Amino acid sequence: MNWKNARENRLWGWFRALVTEVMLSVVGFRYIFSFRFIYFELHRRAFFFLCSPWAVSRRFLDQRGEFDAQGYGETPLVTLNAVARRLKLSSSDALLELGSGTGRNCMWLSDRYGCRTLGIEQIPLFVQLGKKLARQSMPPGKVSFICGDMFGLDMSRWQRVYVDCTAMSESCIRQVAMLCAGLPNGAKVVTVNASLAQLMPERFQLESTFPGLFIWGWSDMRIQRVGPPEESPEEQQDQQGDRSIPLTVTEAQEP
Ligand SMILES: C[S@@+](CC[C@H](N)C(=O)[O-])C[C@H]1O[C@@H](n2cnc3c(N)ncnc32)[C@H](O)[C@@H]1O
Repeated sequence: MNWKNARENRLWGWFRALVTEVMLSVVGFRYIFSFRFIYFELHRRAFFFLCSPWAVSRRFLDQRGEFDAQGYGETPLVTLNAVARRLKLSSSDALLELGSGTGRNCMWLSDRYGCRTLGIEQIPLFVQLGKKLARQSMPPGKVSFICGDMFGLDMSRWQRVYVDCTAMSESCIRQVAMLCAGLPNGAKVVTVNASLAQLMPERFQLESTFPGLFIWGWSDMRIQRVGPPEESPEEQQDQQGDRSIPLTVTEAQEP
């Protein structure tokens, strides 16, 4: 969401966004101290100095005739750090970001937590820049980007997924739920402003929720485990009891 698609007064919206951005930068300042990330961020900001990612995204959506769609938003580092800590990300993990924007999240997570990251994004310009900067600043294979539609992805090998659903319509969020239902059992999906566990209670179990700070204010962050609901110890005992009946009968019938 931004001052353009929130239908806010332009000047007020711009000022509010600026103040929030400055505040978030101050809060997130301690997260940027890495040569690689500073290199990436300086180049990214220089690239988008005259034409912001919000404007690029707006133009992309307008060209596709999606005039009402809200396209872009960024997860502040302080919020991303809260996600990474709750997921206990480490160098042995691989994380998929659905709708990776300009690639900053993937870069930062790989740099700070050592995990491999893959971002899929539909806007070619974002992907081109992300790929170029990742090649220049990260070890090979650590950060990758694909340009394309996230709904065509094979999800079967991912264990950690991050998706910001703030700018998505209800039907799009439902599609995200269908897509993530293809993850293996035990995988974890972090969503912003969307509850997959409510949409598909048989496939997603809510593990935790926490507030995440964004440029537009606080948003609901949810960590969802993929898989059927866990049975309570009583239910498990009941089932074991049920199973023991035929076993006993069979045993009893044996000579
Ligand atoms: C709200 S932005 C989030 C950017 C980034 N994930 C972050 O949190 O900073 C959502 C991004 O998802 C992209 N996106 C939306 N639908 C998509 C789709 N079907 N396939 C790939 N990317 C998509 C948009 O172009 C946009 O860059």
